[in-house]
Amino acid sequence: MAVVHRVGFVILLFMVTYCTCRYEPTWESIDSRPIPGWYDEAKVGIFIHWGVFSVPSFGSEWFWWYWQGTKVPHYVNFMNKNYPPGFTYGDFGPMFTAEFFNAKQWVDIFASSGAKYIVLTTKHHEGFTLWGSKNSWNWNAVDVGPRRDLVDELSTALRDHTSLHLGLYHSLFEWFHPLFNQDKANSYKTNYFPTTKSLPELYDLVTKFKPEILWSDGDGNAPDYYWNSTSFLAWLYNDSPVKDTVVTNDRWGYGTICKHGGFYTCTDRYNPGHLLKRKWENCMTIDQKSWGYRREAVLQDYLSTGDIIKTLVETVSCGGNLLINVGPTHDGRIAPIFEERLRQMGQWLKVNGEAIYSTTAWRAQNDTVTCGVWYTAKPQEKAIYAITLSWPTDGSIILGAPKVTEGQTQVALLGYKELKWEPVAAGGLRVYLPQLSPSEMPCSWAWTLKLTGAS
Ligand SMILES: *[C@@H]1O[C@H](CO)[C@@H](O)[C@H](O)[C@H]1NC(C)=O
Ligand SMILES: *[C@@H]1O[C@H](CO)[C@@H](O)[C@H](O)[C@H]1NC(C)=O
Repeated sequence: MAVVHRVGFVILLFMVTYCTCRYEPTWESIDSRPIPGWYDEAKVGIFIHWGVFSVPSFGSEWFWWYWQGTKVPHYVNFMNKNYPPGFTYGDFGPMFTAEFFNAKQWVDIFASSGAKYIVLTTKHHEGFTLWGSKNSWNWNAVDVGPRRDLVDELSTALRDHTSLHLGLYHSLFEWFHPLFNQDKANSYKTNYFPTTKSLPELYDLVTKFKPEILWSDGDGNAPDYYWNSTSFLAWLYNDSPVKDTVVTNDRWGYGTICKHGGFYTCTDRYNPGHLLKRKWENCMTIDQKSWGYRREAVLQDYLSTGDIIKTLVETVSCGGNLLINVGPTHDGRIAPIFEERLRQMGQWLKVNGEAIYSTTAWRAQNDTVTCGVWYTAKPQEKAIYAITLSWPTDGSIILGAPKVTEGQTQVALLGYKELKWEPVAAGGLRVYLPQLSPSEMPCSWAWTLKLTGAS
């Protein structure tokens, strides 16, 4: 009997250590991997769209495609008016100078925003790599333009800052790459481009910079088997230097979005207003019209700090993370308007971070009675957070969703102190808010009521 038991135990041990820990190159296996906990706890990240498109800095980071791919008149006219005949997109390369780029300064801004990770475009659809990729010919920041390895500089500066995780964005396809276009003409039955370009670059990025997020994009309408996505992800999860901590998204080939991979991104600016079964991320932009820097943007194009806090609160209440985008300039600056928005989000998170970081979604996502009240929770601490996006004018607020008990339930305003409340006959409670002068207010934009002893 003892021998049989021991054999059984060894088999079980083998199964636990091998069978459940190796991922197969199938979506079923890849999708079964739990998302590493740090990512769900982090809640807020900064997206950075930077590249040669930051030189024309007009219209969109899709500038090259709109100018010479679909030939949108707005972009064609802009080039005809402002650049000499025969000027090519490649001619923008040397103008991507980054002379003011100071990685430490950027990291300081990102950290002050309260974000816990960043995601940098190492290569957008234009194909220009911000690191010295040896598969890029000379279309990279070390050979052209700044002559610096920008990914290396930023990831090095970040490593000194323990509160921020490194994420790298990588576009699978490139609009005008001849090998991609050849594969496309062959209905993706050949894979010259993935084997000589996108896959070597992905392996290079992971081994060199050890990102904890790999943010894939740009499948070019080519299927996942063309990109070898599941094989690559199996390597990433089984054998890469970041196999235990790395997180990925869902953009790994035509049809995988919102269906396969790591966390879901579904669409840009995804903010469903309800819970999802899978961890998800709302990637959105402060300049509502573009991910890349746009010189012609006017004030009303930028989200206000209040807009950003509202989106953050809605997103986190529904179980998502917020990835908030800034577009730096060709010379390496983060414009003061982006910096101000980020620092103000940080001010808000200093007071209200307790209701954001490491929280889970609650039973109800928003209140049943009062509009614009969103919930998060910390079950271990038996705390419920009700975040209100407006300060009531009549001195009190009704929360319809929580179940309260007199003598047990306590309500506090974060950054202030405990508040008086009373039960409401229809269910829930009325919380009395203090009369505060502007300088006594713990924060602006949104306020958190912390409930304990309630359910
Ligand atoms: C990609 O997939 C193809 C076909 O499935 C295979 O022949 C090739 O070895 C794979 N390449 C890499 C780098 O994974
Ligand atoms: C709660 O949110 C849902 C989805 O966004 C919305 O339809 C509903 O009206 C909200 N409830 C209140 C009371 O605002």
